[in-house]
Amino acid sequence: MQPPRRKTPLFSTETFIAMKQASVGAGARKGSNLSVFVVVFSIFLFGCFMYNEDVKSIAEFPFSSPKAEEIQKQQSIQNNPVQETTENEDLRAVSMNSRTIVETQVETSREETEETSAINLNMKSSEEEEEEKEEEKEDENIIELPVEEEDDEEVELPPEDCDLFTGEWVFDNVSHPIYREDDCEFLTAQVTCMRNGRKDSLYQNWKWQPRDCSMPKFKARLFLEKLRGKRLMFVGDSLNRNQWESMVCLVQSVVPPGRKSLKKTGSLSVFRIEDYNATVEFYWAPFLVRSNSDDPTMHSILNRIIMPGYIKNHGKNWKNVDYLVFNTYIWWMNTFSMKVLRGSFDEGATEYDEIDRPIAYAKVLKTWSKWVEKNVNPNRTTVFFMSMSPLHIKSLDWENPNGIKCALETTPITNMSMPLEVGTDRRLFVIAENVTRSMKRVPVHFINITTLSEYRKDAHTSVYTIRQGKMLTDEQKADPVNFADCIHWCLPGVPDMWNEFLYTRIISRRS
Ligand SMILES: *[C@@H]1O[C@H](CO)[C@@H](O)[C@H](O)[C@H]1NC(C)=O
Ligand SMILES: *[C@@H]1O[C@H](CO)[C@@H](O)[C@H](O)[C@H]1NC(C)=O
Ligand SMILES: *[C@@H]1O[C@H](CO)[C@@H](O)[C@H](O)[C@H]1NC(C)=O
Ligand SMILES: *[C@@H]1O[C@H](CO)[C@@H](O)[C@H](O)[C@H]1NC(C)=O
Ligand SMILES: *[C@@H]1O[C@H](CO)[C@@H](O)[C@H](O)[C@H]1NC(C)=O
Ligand SMILES: *[C@@H]1O[C@H](CO)[C@@H](O)[C@H](O)[C@H]1NC(C)=O
Repeated sequence: MQPPRRKTPLFSTETFIAMKQASVGAGARKGSNLSVFVVVFSIFLFGCFMYNEDVKSIAEFPFSSPKAEEIQKQQSIQNNPVQETTENEDLRAVSMNSRTIVETQVETSREETEETSAINLNMKSSEEEEEEKEEEKEDENIIELPVEEEDDEEVELPPEDCDLFTGEWVFDNVSHPIYREDDCEFLTAQVTCMRNGRKDSLYQNWKWQPRDCSMPKFKARLFLEKLRGKRLMFVGDSLNRNQWESMVCLVQSVVPPGRKSLKKTGSLSVFRIEDYNATVEFYWAPFLVRSNSDDPTMHSILNRIIMPGYIKNHGKNWKNVDYLVFNTYIWWMNTFSMKVLRGSFDEGATEYDEIDRPIAYAKVLKTWSKWVEKNVNPNRTTVFFMSMSPLHIKSLDWENPNGIKCALETTPITNMSMPLEVGTDRRLFVIAENVTRSMKRVPVHFINITTLSEYRKDAHTSVYTIRQGKMLTDEQKADPVNFADCIHWCLPGVPDMWNEFLYTRIISRRS
């Protein structure tokens, strides 16, 4: 059962050119950009070691005269800062635009040598072709859902072929937010924007309205019945953790105190609902495959290196889960190319190749899709892949010359005819869409949140968040240019809507 697909051609001219250039221009670009990067990062690292405190290193990044084939690429990345807030909330921020790199980071102590488990990497194995088994898809008929005792209102399911992702944001302060910030004790300080001082709250009141049908009303009890005796797991980076926190809040409101718990063990966080024997879990794996950034708390690693063929180590934690929700994007965005290890961390390998971002991304998703096809029983498990969550770094992208990143925005972009380009690397979108669509034995629901979230410049945590475990100070809050987080989202907020897509799919299924 596949979600509705776009009928228009997969490739816009732009992305096609970008992909083509990405592969053609690989060799030529390295010399210039990479050497600049090496210099800048070296300076930064040096700075970090010299000043073991809240270091802010600002380096000039002169793209003096980019080669013709680079321009396209720069456009897709320019003004695309990447910030990652770690589990223990020490902020690792890489802000990159065409002129400046801002690095705010302290944790450089842990390196890939932290990885200890014995693993035998064989990157070639991921390249081996596998026989793909075609299996009969499950019955896809929509069923009438039982009416809840507590609530006479019937839940009306949208037709299965309705494209949920094409539509618009509409103001609706009756149905949204679905829960109140204060009522969800499980929210972390990273996302509680109101408590952290945000004054405007209208960002909580928008709902996504598909053009051709309507989203079913969210009913926590109905949803929990679907989760009874089951595990729902989010796997990926801090945006997926953002969405996991949202999901916990969506379901927890109907669970009495003492019948729910949250436990974090290593890379896995488990929210447990006793009376339903159900769990809502999050597993930290920002690249899905093995990387030097896999430590759930100390992953603030500047020099990110991946092992694109190796996924088993993480994957064993995803077995026997009933609903799997994957993502990977933001950690790819702080450099133009991805560092791919030659060999294994366990064998002490430190040498790596620099691979073009889309090529490395495709490799990783291929490894991931093979793991899914091999290890997931489609009769038991439903698999989702979240498309990339966009950033809002440059207010000129939405024609606000007086804006400061996302910091002054209080309403979504509502002019749907305004062409919107906020720097999302669409090449990765195309790859993810293609890889998930080509999976046959285990159908994957590609949840296309990218474009609709691009309209939500108003909904990021901005300065109403924490870094390095601490609330931003008033001085920092007054300096959004340097401190606004325009990557993560306030809760309640946009990730609730993403979860409503999952909810819609999950309650529509018979099992
Ligand atoms: C994703 O959704 C947007 C609208 O939100 C739509 O324009 C686009 O065609 C969709 N892409 C795919 C691959 O479904
Ligand atoms: C909802 O919005 C309307 C129109 O802006 C406003 O009049 C009303 O007071 C709001 N209701 C709540 C509960 O916020
Ligand atoms: C609880 O759920 C798990 C799956 O998450 C299942 O293996 C187990 O049998 C269930 N226990 C009971 C008592 O239903
Ligand atoms: C899934 O169920 C179908 C029909 O019951 C069965 O033929 C098939 O072997 C099952 N597949 C797996 C992987 O268990
Ligand atoms: C919406 O955007 C289009 C294209 O940028 C522009 O021509 C139009 O004036 C805008 N409409 C409004 C109401 O701002
Ligand atoms: C899409 O996926 C198929 C199957 O994996 C592959 O053969 C094809 O080259 C891919 N196309 C693009 C443009 O990525």
